[in-house]
Amino acid sequence: MPIALEATTLSDAAFVVRPLPEAVFRCGALAETPRRARQLGGRRVLLVTDPGVVAAGLAERLRALLVADGLDVAVFSGVEANPTLSNVTSGSAAAGDPDGLVIVALGGGSSMDCAKAIALDAVNDGPIRDYCIAASLGETGVIDPASAAPRRQPTNALPLIAIPTTSGTASETNGAGVLTDESENRKIFISNPLTRPAVSLLDPELTLGLPPYPTATCGMDALTHAIEAFTSNRVTPYSDAIALQAIRLVGQWLPAAVDDGNDLEARAQLLLGSHLAGVAFATAGLGMCHALGHPLSAVLHQAHGQTLTTMLPHVMGFNLPERTNRYAAVADALGAADATADNDTNAHAAIAAVRALAERVGIARSITEMGGSSDHLPELVRQAMSDVSMLTNPRPASSDEVRALYLAAL
Ligand SMILES: NC(=O)c1ccc[n+]([C@@H]2O[C@H](COP(=O)([O-])OP(=O)(O)OC[C@H]3O[C@@H](n4cnc5c(N)ncnc54)[C@H](O)[C@@H]3O)[C@@H](O)[C@H]2O)c1
Ligand SMILES: [Fe+2]
Repeated sequence: MPIALEATTLSDAAFVVRPLPEAVFRCGALAETPRRARQLGGRRVLLVTDPGVVAAGLAERLRALLVADGLDVAVFSGVEANPTLSNVTSGSAAAGDPDGLVIVALGGGSSMDCAKAIALDAVNDGPIRDYCIAASLGETGVIDPASAAPRRQPTNALPLIAIPTTSGTASETNGAGVLTDESENRKIFISNPLTRPAVSLLDPELTLGLPPYPTATCGMDALTHAIEAFTSNRVTPYSDAIALQAIRLVGQWLPAAVDDGNDLEARAQLLLGSHLAGVAFATAGLGMCHALGHPLSAVLHQAHGQTLTTMLPHVMGFNLPERTNRYAAVADALGAADATADNDTNAHAAIAAVRALAERVGIARSITEMGGSSDHLPELVRQAMSDVSMLTNPRPASSDEVRALYLAAL
């Protein structure tokens, strides 16, 4: 029996696909950076990266390419994992005169997101916090839509080139950035077309040196993007096609990349899988797994993909009644569906397949194993309920239900 999706007609479909950055995918694409920076009017480059990318030798490779082309290069390598607002202010202080300046982000989501915020902060008045979205709950206990907007709108941003060195966040596909407000230990967001990269360079060779643990956590981040984009309350036939292919690619190739980091084919498939998942969620949005994962990163200082891996089976179980057919299609894309079984059985098989993949790549962990305890629950629930990713979850959740999901993952 084929796995049936509810939307089989297009005559009643209506959706908008917003512009995406130009994306160049090829081994060796890094070498295009100087020409692209000049095309954007650059005479100077601020290279935004982190200590791990520097240690892997990638930042120096790029700096040398830019300098050889005659560009003036400053390097800001102070980005932390789950980048903070003070990382942004330090980065924009390093930027100096914005005239003829192009920002080049080299790294994972942390470097790319921080670079987007630096591109804003360097040319807009006031603190970067004013341009961030930090939603709050209304009297009914759900997000007050009025609070899901920044205090101020930016007027401008420096041009940005995004060069991912992990396969996970797909930050290169969008104008969004996730930042940690260290004064509240909370994740907040920028989201603006101005901070969308002008071009992203997808060079699989840059991901070869990523160690097994971040390879696994980033890959599960990409898988979560694809599953949430395929099951959100904003799905479209356009994003569906892309999300399903992303699920297939990540499911098939993640174990190989974790087992052998030098497997260039696996690295290339994963980089495309991650990118496609980003294209899908740029249209369809994400869901509650991200809303529940962000507080775990902020409070327990864990990798983004680790927190999602811990929560994903629980969130899928919660959403299953609303998305049975779609989860059955997820099982099919993960190669875990039984063609003779009904959709409910296959939907449960999708959850089992996600758990099995997390085990296979060695990152199936409980909240307790991440250093959390029941003492953290009130704060985690409070932050999750006011995370904007809640707004696109297919099934609304009360704070008691969110608490129960955290308890189940404890
Ligand atoms: N903007 C978005 O759309 C979006 C989506 C999801 C997540 N995020 C955010 O992205 C951040 C996480 O990004 P991430 O998962 O890519 O991790 P990361 O950028 O923090 O990188 C993880 C680690 O890998 C190292 N590293 C990166 N590339 C390497 C390479 N090629 N070789 C060796 N080491 C390398 C880094 O130095 C770092 O220590 C979080 O803050 C998360 O909230 C953003
Ligand atoms: Fe993510």
